[in-house]
Amino acid sequence: MKVTRRDFVKAGATVAGAALMGDFLLSCTAGQKRYKVAMTGDKIIINLDEFPFLKEEWGGGIFAAGKKVGLVVVNTPDGYVAFKVNCTHKQCAVDWVKEEKHFVCPCHKGTYDIDGSVVSGPPPEPLKRWLVAEEGGKLFITEA
Ligand code: FES
Repeated sequence: MKVTRRDFVKAGATVAGAALMGDFLLSCTAGQKRYKVAMTGDKIIINLDEFPFLKEEWGGGIFAAGKKVGLVVVNTPDGYVAFKVNCTHKQCAVDWVKEEKHFVCPCHKGTYDIDGSVVSGPPPEPLKRWLVAEEGGKLFITEA
């Protein structure tokens, strides 16, 4: 099949438009596994029994609620933290690297500490923090 210049431009515009529509670019990297969770109203609810790695100190993972919200959640000695998974540089999804206790962006190697502050690389701002409340073996996460 011959691809014309017009077809090529049209396909590019479609991909770019899709990327702009959602702010959670799940497909921009082949990073860590994403766990699907539901969003109820403005809350993301994570049942800790379903994700035993979150009960371990420094255990963390990436959670997707629909196509628009992606969070990285970590169990720290001071409690759970959650951040929007998108890097503040070009919106790639960051990974949680437990061994380094850093969030690392696979696109341009931006790194953030456990508070979401930029440690190195091109990100211009900290990760966006969400609020986490723990009750009855569940995490209730809302936008700050
Ligand atoms: S998109 Fe994350 S460092 Fe560039």
